[in-house]
Amino acid sequence: MPTNELTIPEQIVVWERVMSNAKYQRELADPQLTARVNPPANRMLKALDIGCGWGRHLVWLAQQGWRATGVDWTHAAVRQTRQRLEQLHLTAQVIKADLRRLPFQDAEYQVIVAVDVLQHGRLAEFKRALTEIKRVLRVGGQAIFNIPSERNAPSEYAGTWPEERTVIIGNGAEAGLPHHFFTEVEIRTVARMFRHVDVNAVVEPLPAGFAPLHKTHVNEWFWVTLTG
Ligand SMILES: C[S@@+](CC[C@H](N)C(=O)[O-])C[C@H]1O[C@@H](n2cnc3c(N)ncnc32)[C@H](O)[C@@H]1O
Repeated sequence: MPTNELTIPEQIVVWERVMSNAKYQRELADPQLTARVNPPANRMLKALDIGCGWGRHLVWLAQQGWRATGVDWTHAAVRQTRQRLEQLHLTAQVIKADLRRLPFQDAEYQVIVAVDVLQHGRLAEFKRALTEIKRVLRVGGQAIFNIPSERNAPSEYAGTWPEERTVIIGNGAEAGLPHHFFTEVEIRTVARMFRHVDVNAVVEPLPAGFAPLHKTHVNEWFWVTLTG
């Protein structure tokens, strides 16, 4: 089936536009994440925020005492996150890179977080992301992220569906971007390289100003904790 799926360089152009638009900016760290990450046991331990966006979680990690690094593949996100850190007099590294090819050594990070990021791609890209996360995570470290459940998928008319539960969004700010919607079984299958996999389904209220996408739409997210 023909789709309007964008190439990776074209996807980055769309993300540059989204991340330059203040309308999408979120300031506060997600409480579902902050409830799952403890402060570091010592000042040498490192935390990584992948797809850091405007840096709300990177800022929070730095404030918790982590030696924090953020990665995003857009100039817009990297620039704005650096500005924000400077305004708050916080120290953290911010690097422009694709999360599927992280420019880090093996076993560098004790904690890795990714909020509202890992669904942006086909299932194969999620697998590549978890392989990279496993590589840079320390033994005993934790990766904590959220991804939308299949109950959160838009209607079949929202775009084209090149594979099961992956939609290429048809219009709006994210037109042409692939999004995958997950089942718990799928997450556990892909994540089986980790020592321990914890999956929690959380139904969240829709953000202010958002209407349900269709009659059976439920804003359900999986919060996943993987132990390296
Ligand atoms: C919806 S925003 C979420 C930002 C941030 N995590 C937050 O919770 O506010 C998704 C971010 O992931 C970034 N992103 C998406 N795919 C990426 C990839 N393959 N590599 C690096 N960054 C990516 C986008 O540029 C964007 O900044």
